[in-house]
Amino acid sequence: MKLSGFYRLSVQERLDEIKKAANLTDEEAKLLADTGALKIDVADRMIENVVGGVHLPLGIATNFKINGKEYIVPMAIEEPSVIAAASKAAKLSLPQGFTAEAEEPVMIGQIQLVNVENAVDSLKKLEKNKENIIKICKEQLKNLEKYGGGLKNIFFRTIKTSRGDMVLAEFEVDMRDAMGANMMNTMLEAVAPTVAEFAGGEVRLRIISNLAVKRKVNVKAVWKKDDLTGEAIEKILDGYELAKNDIYRCATHNKGVMNGIDGVALACGQDWRAIEAGMHAYASLERYKPITHYEKDKDGNLVGIIEMPLAAATVGGAVNTLDTAKVCLKILNVKTSNELAMVMAAVGLANNFAALYALSTEGIQKGHMKLHARNIAVIAGAETTEEIDRVAGELAKQNNYSSEFAKSVLERIRG
Ligand code: MEV
Repeated sequence: MKLSGFYRLSVQERLDEIKKAANLTDEEAKLLADTGALKIDVADRMIENVVGGVHLPLGIATNFKINGKEYIVPMAIEEPSVIAAASKAAKLSLPQGFTAEAEEPVMIGQIQLVNVENAVDSLKKLEKNKENIIKICKEQLKNLEKYGGGLKNIFFRTIKTSRGDMVLAEFEVDMRDAMGANMMNTMLEAVAPTVAEFAGGEVRLRIISNLAVKRKVNVKAVWKKDDLTGEAIEKILDGYELAKNDIYRCATHNKGVMNGIDGVALACGQDWRAIEAGMHAYASLERYKPITHYEKDKDGNLVGIIEMPLAAATVGGAVNTLDTAKVCLKILNVKTSNELAMVMAAVGLANNFAALYALSTEGIQKGHMKLHARNIAVIAGAETTEEIDRVAGELAKQNNYSSEFAKSVLERIRG
């Protein structure tokens, strides 16, 4: 679904294209176009003390092909350039596109025991009674087992802390298409008293870990040297090298990756804070590093790779409650949480590549400000589409994006 020239269409034309391509019903298309689509009573059921909703623009990233399948990618984001950048990087990755793989959707949960008399003894007792603990977990995960998920492993370990030795019981659960936090936390709370009974000590925390190292995705793309201008590959590699060697740059490098991932996550009702936490923790396993990797292949093309934990969901949580998330998942046409995770990581890699390409060559401000010009025109007082387009066009032409200049252009247009 390349949707070429998509950006040149009007909003209505774009909506019509997406409706056709994703086979949306009239109601679903209406929902997308309705920027206030979240009903107040739904919002009130989702969180506490509700007084309203927050609206973000929803756009479509084009040209994404992953493992040979074409995707229309919805992204919710307030920042201009991100969707254009992702679409451009995806286009440059064609005809091959991205290749991706994902591990089984296994999450880790932890039970913390404190005030244990003898941590080594506790571990022995837990190992001895593992089967009893497994039985309780399985009872809790009966429903998940029906879908092919369930408990995969249990580990026990001790840690030394300034508040004494603690025991950790860690559970690995295949969550299938759910993110899994609720299922995991419910199971942990149910089994914790038994764990304490065998191990001794007192139960403290019982919670999922967002460092989802068992649920990683790996996505790769090759950008051909002939498709990139101005010795870009060497320049991109210089830029990447800075992120590898300097934490100040590395934070921004990884932020650019998350522009893409969070954009899709927000559109599709994902727990983006969990994904953010997982990415940053994974990037810091040794010391904080770029979450992407770049190198040249034997033909001198640029190979980009992203590997990170990515706990996505196509069922459960906000995915079940937010109507717009359901429509976005329909547009994406992903069948599993793993497929969604692969798309998200591909978009993250695309945004990162696009940022490095722009930053290491012409800089990002030219393109960014061109896209931001319409906002500046509105802030300066432009009202009609014609006024906005004319003011924005003039700002881009003169490469002057100050609000004073925008105001003077508007006055001139209005005569
Ligand atoms: C801006 O939202 C993201 C960038 O700063 C990312 C980067 O510097 O790599 C452009």
